[in-house]
Amino acid sequence: MLKKCLLAFALLCSCLPLQAQSSARIIQALHKDWLFFLGDDKQAAASTFDDAQWRKLNLPHDWSIEGVFAENHLTTTQGGALPTGIGWYRKHLTIPYQYKNKQIYLEFDGVYRDSEVWINGHSVGKRPFGYNSFRYEISQWIRLGEDNVIAVRVDNSQQPNSRWYSGSGIYRYVRLVYTEAIAVDHWGTYITTPKVNTQQASVKIQTQLNNTSHQSQAVILRSILYDAQNQEVKRIESHLVLPDTGTLVTQNITVANPLLWTLAQPYLYSLKTEVWQAKQLLDVYQTSFGIRSFRFDAQKGFILNEQPTKILGVCNHHDLGALGAAVNVRAIERQLTLLKQMGCNAIRMSHNPPAPELLDLCDKMGFIVMDEAFDMWKKKKSKKDYGLFWEQWHQQDLEAMVKRDRNHPSIFVWSIGNEIREQFDSTGTTIAKELAQIVKKWDNTRPVISALTENEPNKNFIYQSKALDLLGFNYKHEDYALLPQRFPQQVLLATETASALATRGRYDMPKDSIQLWPKTAKSPLVEGNAAFAVTAYDNVAAYWGTTHEEAWKAVKKSPFIAGLFVWSGFDYLGEPHPYPWPARSSYFGIIDLAGFPKDVYYMYQSEWTNKPVLHLFPHWNWTKGQTVDVWCYYNEADEVELLLNEQSLGIRKKEKDAIHVAWKVPFQAGTLKAVSRKAGQVVLTKTIQTAGKAYQVVLETDKKILNADGEDLAFVTVKVTDEQGNLVPEANHLINFQVTGAATLAGVDNGYQASMESFKMPYRHAYNGLCLAIVRTTEQAGTIQLTATAEGLLPQTLVLESKK
Ligand code: GAL
Repeated sequence: MLKKCLLAFALLCSCLPLQAQSSARIIQALHKDWLFFLGDDKQAAASTFDDAQWRKLNLPHDWSIEGVFAENHLTTTQGGALPTGIGWYRKHLTIPYQYKNKQIYLEFDGVYRDSEVWINGHSVGKRPFGYNSFRYEISQWIRLGEDNVIAVRVDNSQQPNSRWYSGSGIYRYVRLVYTEAIAVDHWGTYITTPKVNTQQASVKIQTQLNNTSHQSQAVILRSILYDAQNQEVKRIESHLVLPDTGTLVTQNITVANPLLWTLAQPYLYSLKTEVWQAKQLLDVYQTSFGIRSFRFDAQKGFILNEQPTKILGVCNHHDLGALGAAVNVRAIERQLTLLKQMGCNAIRMSHNPPAPELLDLCDKMGFIVMDEAFDMWKKKKSKKDYGLFWEQWHQQDLEAMVKRDRNHPSIFVWSIGNEIREQFDSTGTTIAKELAQIVKKWDNTRPVISALTENEPNKNFIYQSKALDLLGFNYKHEDYALLPQRFPQQVLLATETASALATRGRYDMPKDSIQLWPKTAKSPLVEGNAAFAVTAYDNVAAYWGTTHEEAWKAVKKSPFIAGLFVWSGFDYLGEPHPYPWPARSSYFGIIDLAGFPKDVYYMYQSEWTNKPVLHLFPHWNWTKGQTVDVWCYYNEADEVELLLNEQSLGIRKKEKDAIHVAWKVPFQAGTLKAVSRKAGQVVLTKTIQTAGKAYQVVLETDKKILNADGEDLAFVTVKVTDEQGNLVPEANHLINFQVTGAATLAGVDNGYQASMESFKMPYRHAYNGLCLAIVRTTEQAGTIQLTATAEGLLPQTLVLESKK
């Protein structure tokens, strides 16, 4: 949203008459041209410090992702086995004299973690929490017309402090905001829609006005509502005397025939807030919002705009694979697009407030969001985690999340914590009450939830607080049927399911039962394989979870559960359960770290969408006579027939609650074909050929025309194929990349959880036939060439266009 605001304000400023222009709010993006030093130097806070040798870079930046994996890194493999430490950032800037009466604010969307900021040598504040947004008022330390230095020390050296990869640095956007003494406060608008139907919606606008002029002033607050085409819908004006302490102004508007925000058509309105004093425009502030109604019902689950809607969600961490934690809008959009195509309609922001851009995209693309504040309260989960800062910081950190995010139509639930240890003793009751109160103070239109593990009421002290509006339970799907009796009249959500394990493209023939790796918390890891891979047949899970199929079936037959969040949408760095080093990223994802779907992606797609799906696996390169398990996920059809070299191997139907069909097939090279039919008519056909010798590199981009903005990305899938273009399923060639023209190589990956290759090198081994190259535009328009070469293979060059 902030990016959008920025643009809107820039446009607005350029059209306003001079007087107004010099008065209204100015937002200056501040992510370019920073200086960076990896290490600690106490002198670096001083404005006179010599930083001439420091590295020049643009934010968002994550220094951990640039490092190499090592077993002895302090994060341990849980945190991704990449380096952390302390880093410094400095930014020089001149602020013109014309801003001499302005309030100047420096805003950070997120710094991991424990940051301190100095302006011209004066410390303006510290922020231990690595996931939320904050701002400092810096006017008094600014020297107008001269060089000013912002210095930021980021301390991620206290380890381990996370159960997953956090990244290190100023990994989200930064900006400067200039306002008059009278202005809308930080996150100062709060728009709710108390009554909504298709004929009419009431829109309640609450605006917090600041006044640092030390005297009360007569002002006009004008709120103008625009539709998505930027056509004015309505406006309202309030005349008031603004006290020197500032005030909260409430305005109500009725919108006739509103276009509702729905998952299929997430219609967005915007509100322009203007603050006037006589003929002078003091401030302009933009807020995007949606008009929708929702409620949760113990029997019917989630109801959006009077439509019962099953929440079909995934949990995600914030890393973007090879790009690390550094925010990139296009990379987030790619993730959400893959999930949307799978039929996913909800995201749980596990387990911390996300980048604002992610929420903006959820608003625009139509996702149901559970925004989550914490993975721990006072009782820590890792030695040096946020528990250390809990006492002093939890209140403002929780407030920051709710105040920043409460206008997002995509958010439906506030989570005050994940698997909090205090659920097991009475401190859970006290803290849960306090946190729920904080949330309600800033937003009482959404329910409060916590993702719990203890599902017996008398043993769960967070539940006993009665502070939760919804109950979230992680795992224990075998107990679902008991929950309505245990928690009568409560709305239930499966906040985490599955924790199934898989490596993309790896097929160990399934045993006939579900395997838990390891079997219990106490049992040694006896399963697994020397390749640090897990078969992709969806029959292996962590002992606290179960397979995707089992977990989904359990939710499916429990109508009293409003929905689920599968652990996890994507593989993420860290938490490489069940393997020790050198495994360093997770096996839980439906989609691998490089963004390549695992087979189970199509299971969800076949269950969660109506578009016809027929997914046949595994590959067809085995040894003669070997019995191969062949599986199909399908929908929109009555049956599937499997044929090998045009000989039928029989027709299968999903019986009872089955979610896939399977055959045991003695291997014979050739063509394996699946045909799905409905009422005798062919719906889809899928074929897999036995691949011949690896012959060539094939490049496929997800975007051909890019923006020359220095941030746009093309995700290029690199396939090793035979001469006919069949993927060579176990190819692991070393692929070398060269990018020329208006772009750079932003990262490489292959999705393999134990790869020790750096994400930032111009080469990568293919893994099970595939790897990924991420190409990033520069600010110059022009042609981009990506060439991929590998010994013994025909190279390929892909040509992309970057335009202003
Ligand atoms: C859950 C936890 C998640 C993740 C997951 C892995 O218990 O809430 O953060 O660790 O297990 O299975």
